Amino acid sequence: MNEYDSELVRSLLISGGFVLTSDRVRADVILMNTCAIRENAHTKVYTHLSDLRALKRQRPLVVGVLGCMAQNLKEELTNKEPLVDVLAGPDSYRQLPKLIAEAIEAQEQGLRLKGSAVDLSEYETYDDVIPQRRDGVNAWIAVMRGCDNFCSFCVVPYTRGRERSREPEGILAEARLVVAQGFKQITLLGQNVNSYRSGDWDFARLLVAVADVPGIERVRFTSPHPKDFPPALVDAVSSHPKVCKHIHLPAQSGNDRILGLMNRTYSREAYLELVDRIRAVNQDIVLTTDIIAGFCSETDAEFADTYRLLAEVRYHAAFIFKYSERKHTIAARKFADDVPEAVKSERVTALVDLQREISRERNRAYIGSILPVLVEGDAKRSSQQGMGKTDGNITVVWAKACVPGHPGEILNLSIYDSSASTLYATASY
Ligand code: 5AD
Ligand code: SF4
Repeated sequence: MNEYDSELVRSLLISGGFVLTSDRVRADVILMNTCAIRENAHTKVYTHLSDLRALKRQRPLVVGVLGCMAQNLKEELTNKEPLVDVLAGPDSYRQLPKLIAEAIEAQEQGLRLKGSAVDLSEYETYDDVIPQRRDGVNAWIAVMRGCDNFCSFCVVPYTRGRERSREPEGILAEARLVVAQGFKQITLLGQNVNSYRSGDWDFARLLVAVADVPGIERVRFTSPHPKDFPPALVDAVSSHPKVCKHIHLPAQSGNDRILGLMNRTYSREAYLELVDRIRAVNQDIVLTTDIIAGFCSETDAEFADTYRLLAEVRYHAAFIFKYSERKHTIAARKFADDVPEAVKSERVTALVDLQREISRERNRAYIGSILPVLVEGDAKRSSQQGMGKTDGNITVVWAKACVPGHPGEILNLSIYDSSASTLYATASY
């Protein structure tokens, strides 16, 4: 969602007469789009800010902090951080050209001015702003903004505000535009896509309509909430040839008391029933999840329930996080963050180790098969290797000397080896 928002900001700034550069030494304005979901996201921003301090001492420079951290830490950033000239929360990006122009003018007059726009909106969806996309293969399209779920650990409802859906016409027009621009994949975004509503459109209908846009190869979405996962959505994933056979289904915990404290509004049993329902419809659908370890008052026995959930569901992959208390949240106000840091770390390690073994076994099962792979570009480790994704979102790597392939192409590759995170492929002829 933040990458998508950065594309919106790039578009708004270009319309406002600014010219983009990726060279920070030449930039007159440096903006950081920030995340507030866990403490380490905050820490990163403070590290970048201290890097900019030296640059700003040498010459005029406007520094802006955008996104969730600007929203969440407005007082702290306004009062304590003299480096920051501009603050804009996720619903205030339209004001950026004006705020930046004012900050530049003030600097030219030798004044210090803090420009800040942090009001949340019930309506802003940036529906008319065409994001300035750079990727070339995948186009993110937000279908809704904000969240009304108030999971007790989560800062999103406070930083991104109330839930609001875009109208399907705007989303479909954007989908047709990105296909015309040559994008092969669309990823529909929302904090909880199952809450998508516009007239008599729900998310399953929207997903099918986007997947029906002529010329699109793959459609993905993230993330659904397990509490309201309709059968029509399982059917759309299972049966539409353009909808990727992958569902990211954040569980957060496998223990009912902790799920209750987290305000997730489903039980372990209901979650497992949903997993069974999905797999009964189509056992090839790849399932992944998010887990939080060490939430307030989580006991060893309650943690063991989460460990067993991973062992039972056998996800293809899981993102495992240490609980990180966030300002303003229900958990921060009501519960003590009382699981010691060392215990949180131990629990994360145990889950990561278990998941690594499961992912390794799951990936091994693909050896010998031929899979369609959407080429994304070079592998992280070497420009001699190409990298792409399977329909189930599993990373595939191959030697470019054997399989050239260019970004956006779908190749049928033969899988000959695997690790916990990667499938290794060669040409299938
Ligand atoms: N601490 C740790 N993890 C968190 N997440 C959200 N809030 C927190 C928090 N306070 C995780 C959840 C969510 C993912 C995007 O980030 O697992 O699904
Ligand atoms: Fe946060 Fe819960 Fe909303 Fe996801 S559904 S953004 S975890 S409050």
